[in-house]
Order: sequence, then structure tokens, then C-alpha cells
Amino acid sequence: MHVPVGVKVGLFAVAVMGSYSYFANSIPQIESKPPQELSLEGGNVTPAQLVKAGEEIFHTKGTCEICHRIGQPGTRAPDLAGAGGRAAKRKPGMSAKAYLIESLLQPQAYVVEGYPPIMPAVDKPPIALNRSEVWALTAFLESLGGTVDVTLNDIPASVGAAAAGGGAAEFKIPGDPQAGAQVFQGKGTCIACHKAGKIGASPVGPDLSQIAKIQTPDYIMGKILNPAGMGTVAGFPKGVMPQDFGTRLTSKEYVDLVSFLLTLK
Ligand code: HEC
Ligand code: HEC
Repeated sequence: MHVPVGVKVGLFAVAVMGSYSYFANSIPQIESKPPQELSLEGGNVTPAQLVKAGEEIFHTKGTCEICHRIGQPGTRAPDLAGAGGRAAKRKPGMSAKAYLIESLLQPQAYVVEGYPPIMPAVDKPPIALNRSEVWALTAFLESLGGTVDVTLNDIPASVGAAAAGGGAAEFKIPGDPQAGAQVFQGKGTCIACHKAGKIGASPVGPDLSQIAKIQTPDYIMGKILNPAGMGTVAGFPKGVMPQDFGTRLTSKEYVDLVSFLLTLK
């Protein structure tokens, strides 16, 4: 029987995703606190201190700079210079503050024109900022051309709960990262276009050396099976990444490859 390629890929994706979810859920939920957790709740902080803390998070734990720059075009995401001022005009009837908070927590609610919807929610793994950190980051973004008026109460109390609960932050998929590195360089041909840490040097596609730090496993898995369906990374050509890995790789090769990519952080 002839099976259309799309269907094969679909079934393959569903099967692998299924086993992936199963394994993710069967890992014990270990409380894993990221280093240098910022807590400002209940404390007295001035707007200036808050902005400073937010700036620090932007450059470090937030990993924002892997995609964004301030005052520099040509990266994979909008230049955030003036973002605090621009925010008031993004969505009619929405304040700058509300828009910025939404940009961080539900990046897909408004997608800036010309960019793909690839920004992960910052309070979920892998970035996993807590409520204080999201508060400080919002203040920092407001300070870029706008007015710093965010209070802790503006940040929903549920923010960061997913990260604090542990579990999701440290899951594994049942693959062999070393075998995956071989797939990356061999049958997968990824190395022809991508660099991954010490492996490869091609600039055709994005450098994947820190992909697990900025992207969710769902995105990484989806991008391999259905690159076009996940949007095109800004600054890179559309339609260059092959669309047929779902039929070219065996499911073991695919799972090994994903485990390898998840070590890149
Ligand atoms: C994986 C890449 C990536 C990472 C990491 C990332 N972003 Fe983004 N971000 C984007 C892209 C792409 C857009 C534009 C598409 C959209 O609106 O979702 C965007 C949009 C935004 C916007 C809206 C800008 C506007 O002009 O309306 C803000 C604010 C923002 N990001 C802040 C941040 C902050 C702060 C961090 C770090 C905690 C961060 N982003 C991390 C890719 C990323
Ligand atoms: C012929 C070149 C080419 C090959 C081969 C290729 N890719 Fe890509 N890949 C690209 C390009 C170009 C982009 C950026 C444009 C886009 O998003 O489609 C990209 C994007 C990606 C992204 C998203 C990166 C990000 O920062 O969001 C991932 C993940 C990825 N590729 C993984 C792989 C893996 C794994 C393989 C091997 C199985 C592979 N690619 C093979 C060209 C390639």
C-alpha cells in the first residue's frame, strides 16, 4: 500500500512524542532549584534596583541575548532598543506594561511582524524564571524608552510555578546522546549546515551550541520533523532545512539525535 509521506511522518511523530511524554512523566519529580534564584517578594526595592536586577537577568539567566540584542539589528529576534516605549502601541487598548508581561509569559499571543513564533515562555523550562525575576525583567524592558511602573502584583502569582515544581526542568528522553552526535555528523547530515559545540562549523543554519538552553524539547523535536511548520528562524533562509528527516531517520536515530541536542546548553 502506498502511504503518503505526510501521514508517515505524522504517525512517527505521534509515536515518538507519546513515548517521550511517557518517559518525561515517569522521571521522579526532583526539586531542582536553579542557581542564583532572585527573590524580591516582600522586600523593599526601588525601581532603579529593580531595573538593575532585570538587566542582570537579561544578560545572564534569561539567556535573552542568544536571540535579542539592544541597539543592534541583525539577530534572530527584534532589537529591544525602545521596546518599553513601543510596547504601548503594539496592541490597541493594552498598556505597555501589560503588553510586556504578555510578551514574556505568552510570547505567541502577539507575534511581531516579520519574525517566527519561536520565543519560549520565560517562566517555563528551559528558561524558567520565577515571579520576582519576571517582575524585574519587566521593569528593565519598561526602562527601555518607557516608564517603570510595574509592581509585583502585576505579575500573576502562578508565574514560575512550573519551574519551582521541578520535574520538567530536568527530564531526559530515552536516547543515547553519543549515538545522537554520530547521527548529527553522519546520516542526519546536520553538520553540513549546523555547528553544535565542538562539532561542525557551518554557518548555513543557526549555531545549535546552546539550543537546549533557549528552546523547549517540543520545539527541537518538531523542528527536525517539520521544519517549515515551526516557522523560519529570523536571519536564515526559508526552506533550506530538509523536510524529510521524518522518513529518513529511524525512530532510534531520531530519539538519539534529540537526546544529543538536549545536551547542548
Ligand atoms: C529563541 C529565541 C528567543 C529567546 C531566547 C527570547 N526571545 Fe524574545 N522574541 C523572540 C522573537 C522571535 C520575537 C518576535 C516574535 C514574537 O513576537 O513572538 C520575540 C519578541 C519579544 C518581545 C516583544 C518585542 C516587541 O517589539 O514587541 C519582547 C519584549 C521579548 N521578546 C523579550 C524577551 C526577553 C526579555 C527574553 C529573555 C528572558 C527573550 N525575549 C528571549 C525570540 C526570543
Ligand atoms: C541544508 C541545510 C540544513 C540541514 C542539512 C539541516 N538544517 Fe537545521 N536548519 C537549517 C536552516 C537554514 C535553519 C534556519 C531556518 C529555519 O528555521 O528553517 C535551520 C534550523 C534548525 C533548527 C532551529 C534552530 C533555532 O535556533 O531555532 C534546529 C533545531 C535544526 N535546524 C536542527 C537540525 C538538525 C537536528 C538537523 C539534522 C537532522 C538539521 N537541522 C539539518 C538548515 C539545515
